[in-house]
Amino acid sequence: MGEAKIFLGLISQSPQCYIQNCNMNTIEINDLLSFDRSHIWHPYSAIGDELPIYPVVSANGVRLKLADGRELIDGMSSWWCAIHGYNHPALNAALKTQLEAMAHVMFGGLTHQPAVELAKKLVELTPYPLQMVFFADSGSVSIEVAMKMAIQYWNAKGQSSKQRFLTIKNGYHGDTFGAMSVCDPINSMHTLFSSAVNQQIFVDGSNCTFGNPVNKTDMIPMEKQLAAKHQNIAAVILEPIVQGAGGMRFYSADYLRQVRKLCDQYGVLLILDEIATGFGRTGKLFACEHADISPDIMCVGKALTGGYLSLAATLTTLEVSNTISMGEPGRFMHGPTFMANPLACSVAIASLQLLIDSEWQARVERIEHGLREGLEPCKNYEQVADVRVLGAIGVVEMKEAVDMSVIVPRFVEAGVWVRPFGRLVYLMPPYVIEKNDLKKLTDALSNILRTNSL
Ligand SMILES: Cc1ncc(COP(=O)(O)O)c(C=O)c1O
Repeated sequence: MGEAKIFLGLISQSPQCYIQNCNMNTIEINDLLSFDRSHIWHPYSAIGDELPIYPVVSANGVRLKLADGRELIDGMSSWWCAIHGYNHPALNAALKTQLEAMAHVMFGGLTHQPAVELAKKLVELTPYPLQMVFFADSGSVSIEVAMKMAIQYWNAKGQSSKQRFLTIKNGYHGDTFGAMSVCDPINSMHTLFSSAVNQQIFVDGSNCTFGNPVNKTDMIPMEKQLAAKHQNIAAVILEPIVQGAGGMRFYSADYLRQVRKLCDQYGVLLILDEIATGFGRTGKLFACEHADISPDIMCVGKALTGGYLSLAATLTTLEVSNTISMGEPGRFMHGPTFMANPLACSVAIASLQLLIDSEWQARVERIEHGLREGLEPCKNYEQVADVRVLGAIGVVEMKEAVDMSVIVPRFVEAGVWVRPFGRLVYLMPPYVIEKNDLKKLTDALSNILRTNSL
């Protein structure tokens, strides 16, 4: 406790560095880092972790500026979010304008232009017949909302036995309890909680990769479970086409199409988690468009606000929403405090407008081309198991897990921001990245992965 106060004191003596985009001196950086290390959790970390952590003072375009003045080209889009790059004038302006009007009001009994305009845009952009919108405050929460919608839907239809969810292995849907229950139970980060979460049904997905038709036998595991347990299954939940944190796998669009058919055949809803894939990342505005299908419930988040603020949405059909309204208790039972936060909605509207007005498809295609070309050499490295690219996502899968304490500092020394996990070293840069910067990213990856000692 005393230690905390000392650190806080040191930090508050030098506020200028937090206000301006200046370089910090070494003492300030050390103070900041030592407080961070001893008091703050980072994602999936331990307090006092020895892994390197880098203070950032500003971000602009595709560059992150570190406190010591170094600039890094961003290969991560802050985990799929910052599709337009950082410090974008249009997004900044949207926030400033909204701030003058109101930062937040409760959504219970009140509404506002940013929420309505954003909902209209989402209905317009997402595949028909998705037309009802629930605003949530993060991707994980939007998954909870989707799961609750599915359960309430079947309750309203008098089928309250339909409470479970069916999914494929290697999935990732977030860190809250409902979301964790449908993350891969073995491979995921949630093994520790497996007996605390609801027990869901997991099947093998398809081994057919993107661009290939599905093998007939690939559908058997899902069909078997649906045939046997459909009376207890509320919905199938999947990440369409790209399984992200569960393995960065790209699977056959044909598989997704067949899953849609099976859901209809066995009377279960289909929830698609487009939180990572949505808004163009795979080359289509939504990944389900690769399969020409539409889910009954869809979750979007991450790039929704261009990476500015946390906001997600769960969309569903008139049929689902009407059914929920007709059942007990006559309304949908969820309502977060920060629902439809006006600042987040305003920046999301600006971000979607920027996306639509840009040549996003051509940009993603250019990035896809640059990733294919730039990561090609990695295919020849002994320690590499696979190299795959889809849209603005490039993945190098290693045979062994990389050592983060070695590889991340090497990337930083090379002037790029790349954060691998396990055996996966991957790039998903902002769509605005220029050819030269993309080349610097792929060159850094290729050069660093060439060495054995990672
Ligand atoms: C596919 C998918 N679903 C859900 C989530 C959870 O979103 P959030 O971190 O905003 O809660 C993530 C986050 O990485 C994700 O990739």
